Amino acid sequence: MDLKGLLLLALLVFEFSSLAYGNLVFPVEHKFKGRQRTLSAMKAHDDRRRARILSALDLSLGGNGRPSKTGLYYTKIQLGSPPMDYYVQVDTGSDILWVNCVQCKTCPQKSSLKIELILYDPKSSNTSHLVSCNDDFCTSTYNGPVNGCKPGMGCEFSVVYGDGSGTAGYFVRDYLTFDQVNGNLQTTPGNSNVIFGCGASHSGGLSSSDDDDALGGIIGFGQANSSVLSQLAAAGKAKRIFSHCLDTHRGGGIFAIGEVDEPKVKKSPLVANQAHYNLFLKDIEVDKDFLDLPTSIFDFGTGQRAIIDSGTTLAYLPSSVYEQLMSKVFSRQPGLETHTRNDHIICFDYDGNVDNGFPTVKFHFKESATLTVYPHDYLFEFDNEWCVGWLRTTSQSKDGREMTLLGDLVLSNRLFVYDLENMSIGWTDYNCSSSIKVKDRESVYKVSAHDISLACAVLIGRILSFIFLLVAMLA
Ligand SMILES: *[C@@H]1O[C@H](CO)[C@@H](O)[C@H](O)[C@H]1NC(C)=O
Ligand SMILES: *[C@@H]1O[C@H](CO)[C@@H](O)[C@H](O)[C@H]1NC(C)=O
Ligand SMILES: *[C@@H]1O[C@H](CO)[C@@H](O)[C@H](O)[C@H]1NC(C)=O
Ligand SMILES: *[C@@H]1O[C@H](CO)[C@@H](O)[C@H](O)[C@H]1NC(C)=O
Repeated sequence: MDLKGLLLLALLVFEFSSLAYGNLVFPVEHKFKGRQRTLSAMKAHDDRRRARILSALDLSLGGNGRPSKTGLYYTKIQLGSPPMDYYVQVDTGSDILWVNCVQCKTCPQKSSLKIELILYDPKSSNTSHLVSCNDDFCTSTYNGPVNGCKPGMGCEFSVVYGDGSGTAGYFVRDYLTFDQVNGNLQTTPGNSNVIFGCGASHSGGLSSSDDDDALGGIIGFGQANSSVLSQLAAAGKAKRIFSHCLDTHRGGGIFAIGEVDEPKVKKSPLVANQAHYNLFLKDIEVDKDFLDLPTSIFDFGTGQRAIIDSGTTLAYLPSSVYEQLMSKVFSRQPGLETHTRNDHIICFDYDGNVDNGFPTVKFHFKESATLTVYPHDYLFEFDNEWCVGWLRTTSQSKDGREMTLLGDLVLSNRLFVYDLENMSIGWTDYNCSSSIKVKDRESVYKVSAHDISLACAVLIGRILSFIFLLVAMLA
């Protein structure tokens, strides 16, 4: 990546952390202005408008968050005209959608997930347009005019994730075809013009040779205006509310955009102006004891935070918290012999029921929202052993904080609702093989679980979503 790319990336990273959010206002046009309109015409208009505006979207989901399975979740999206299928990882920790692009020399062509990987070719879609460097999307993504922008020049992007993998390319605008919920367990295709990245040059784990469970791209469900969710909201196609229920038992699960009517979730407010989904962490309780959470000089009285991130497989804690937690985890098993795999994952033999032999861990968040993590959640089976999914944080946020990062291990088998209209995240334990009810203004419809995964691969401890800080990149 050249220096310009780096600087663009830096802008991308830092700009996203200083966003302001507001509720979306849908512009209402007076289609019948000056003319008599009948009630039925009005109703029909409203119905069409609702169908167009506030419908919920149903995304099919595959994969399995257990580290011994794929350790990631993905969805099938359709791009272009005619619509082609792309399988992309679902990631709440990043802000753009990108897919493998025709110019890509190092893109994977095969995947052990038994899904077809195709390269997006702007020339084979009759609705594809290059996004130019003076396009509003480009200038607002980079917070101002792009240096050296000339007519006909494209808008470049580059992302680097926390595991060092990344991609660079250019933005295109094309049709995204999605499943709009229009009845119980029923959808109809809808589409919207969205801007996404054509990933032309991969690095690290995303390039072909070292990633057998390769996917066709990543869809970021972050809060930034560049995310597909924000673009759909800006186009009046959806609300900025989405939810996931990741199923470790069957694989796949539920992923929907729209307001959730059932089940009801307990909500906790999001920390404002953050690049990732941060919640205010009050306490961690293990077997009725509370751990000492570090107080950082950087806290400014705001206390601890935890990042919720579906693009991360395991769960990461600040060193001091990790030490305390691990001693609690093993306190009922004094004779247990453990060893370390892959340098940092602690594994052991255990024949009994882990839920009886190990403690439950409770994360208490602001407004009395508690996330209870059972031993069967944080311990996972690997090679006929049990391994611990808690790990020590290796990265710091840019204000020097050691991060608490909760990935699929603790997010699975629960319904999580991200409400960006009200800036909160809510959750409840849930059977992710069943269905939820989503609503638009009047109707409430069932959305059921899907599993598009056909095979599983082995992968341990992938932290995909952490965008590197510029410092790390320049080093
Ligand atoms: C693009 O192709 C699709 C089908 O492949 C066709 O229905 C549509 O009319 C075409 N659009 C344009 C703008 O040519
Ligand atoms: C994001 O989009 C909203 C609504 O379209 C707009 O008000 C806001 O200024 C945008 N934020 C940035 C940083 O561009
Ligand atoms: C968002 O908050 C407002 C005001 O607090 C409330 O009226 C509304 O019902 C909330 N919406 C959702 C989807 O929770
Ligand atoms: C979860 O829901 C599915 C589908 O409704 C059902 O077959 C299964 O038995 C349920 N699992 C549990 C543990 O209730």
